Formats: sequence, C-alpha cells, structure tokens
Amino acid sequence: MTIKKYTKEDFKLLKLAGKITSNSLNYIEKIIKPGISTNLIDEEINNFLKKNNAYSAPLFYRGYPKSVCTSINHVVCHGIPSEKILNEGDIVNVDVTAVLNGYHGDASKTFCVGDVSIKAKKLVQTTYESMMEGINIIKPGIKLGDLGFAIQSYAEARGFSVVRDFCGHGVGKSFHEEPNILHYGKKGEGIEILEGMVFTVEPMINEGNYETKVLKDGWTAVTKDKTLSAQFEHTVGVTNNGFEIFTL
Ligand code: MF3
Ligand code: CO
Ligand code: CO
Repeated sequence: MTIKKYTKEDFKLLKLAGKITSNSLNYIEKIIKPGISTNLIDEEINNFLKKNNAYSAPLFYRGYPKSVCTSINHVVCHGIPSEKILNEGDIVNVDVTAVLNGYHGDASKTFCVGDVSIKAKKLVQTTYESMMEGINIIKPGIKLGDLGFAIQSYAEARGFSVVRDFCGHGVGKSFHEEPNILHYGKKGEGIEILEGMVFTVEPMINEGNYETKVLKDGWTAVTKDKTLSAQFEHTVGVTNNGFEIFTL
C-alpha cells in the first residue's frame, strides 16, 4: 500500500482546487428550490467549474455520464442527474469534484429543498456534525479507526446508522487514492495518520438500517429499507499538529 505524502507546495494547490469545489456548492445552494431538475444542477456546476478554469473529475470517470452526483432522499450516493424535478420536502446531496492544475478538490453537501420534515432536518444536521466530529480529531499519530469511531459513535448515539458499503479515500493528484477512509471503526485500529496525507471524510448516514443496494443503472446506491440517507464531504490535509480543510 502506497499512501502519498503531499508537500506544503501541494497543499497550496489543493486549497485552490478545494476552493472552487466549495464555491460551486455555495453557488448551487442559491439555485436549489422546488421545481428545478437535477440536470440543471449538473449544468450549472459544470459551467461554474469551466468558468473557473477547472473541470469535473466524475464526468466520464469509469463511464459515469454526468459532472456531479445528485442523490435525493433514500439515494445514498452516486445519483445521476436527470430531468427529475426536486420537490418541496426532498433532501438532495450534491457531490462535486473539481480538478485544477492537476489537483482534486472533492466535497459534497446535503441541501433541504424548501421546507423539510423535522426528521429529515435532524438527519441532515447529524450527518454534518458526524463528519465534523471525525475531522476535528485529525492529527498525526491517531489511527484511522479513531476517526471512524468518532463518526460512528456520534451518529449511532442519535439513532442513525453509518453506511458500510462506501467510504472516503485518499485524494490529491488522482481522484481516488489509498487509503480507504471508513466512517465506522474501533479506537486504536487501522493505520496511523501521518503529516502530508490528504483524504476525504464523507460519511453517509441513514435514518434506518445501513444496508444499501445499487440500482440497475450501475451507479445509483439506495438504502435497502428505503429510509432517508444524507451525506457531507470535505477534503482534508494532515498538518504537523492537526488538519486543514481544503474545501471550506
Ligand atoms: N465524488 C464521489 C466521491 O466522493 C465519487 C463520485 S464517482 C462518480 O468519491 F463517478 F460517481 F462520479
Ligand atoms: Co470522495
Ligand atoms: Co465526492
């Protein structure tokens, strides 16, 4: 297993790529409302990235047909934009990976479409907080299991479950690098986190059971029990004494 170590110079470039990714999510937040299609989200973000001299990593990645992933309600991840219209009360995750100067910034947010139910709000809020619980403990010397434990214990204490079938990943000069970042685990287990590592933290949290299945399109992952699923994602670099979030 080879885990890349990135330099301070790389960190500057990763931050530039991350900034475009996070700016595109802020931009799309203003466009998301009941009545728009997920294709519009895809087009708007693709144009936004182009205007900023970046491009979308997912487009044509392993045959993926669109520029972003749009995952609605019980879709866990990798939802494909289409003519499908967002309705009041939906939750939709938009996942963007921008490439700038060969560096990747990978982030996602789950947005509420108009007014959503209290339980949906609680799931979305808890998913964001779970991600931050994990990120906030990152520093050299801790184990990946510590990170997974922080996320899992926070989510489960609030009655939700952590998806096992998809995980975070190293990222930087390539879209998906080693290691895998599990969002569940036991304290003290797994490899040690070291300065210079760059990876995503992107927990998918379900209202019901953690089990998922992939639909016939080969991409769309849904909860088996059809309950809601939310996700947030940041790209993070490990510094000498902590972490830096590149996609703020
Ligand atoms: N951006 C997703 C991630 O967080 C991956 C999407 S792969 C795609 O890793 F092909 F579906 F776009
Ligand atoms: Co990712
Ligand atoms: Co992503």
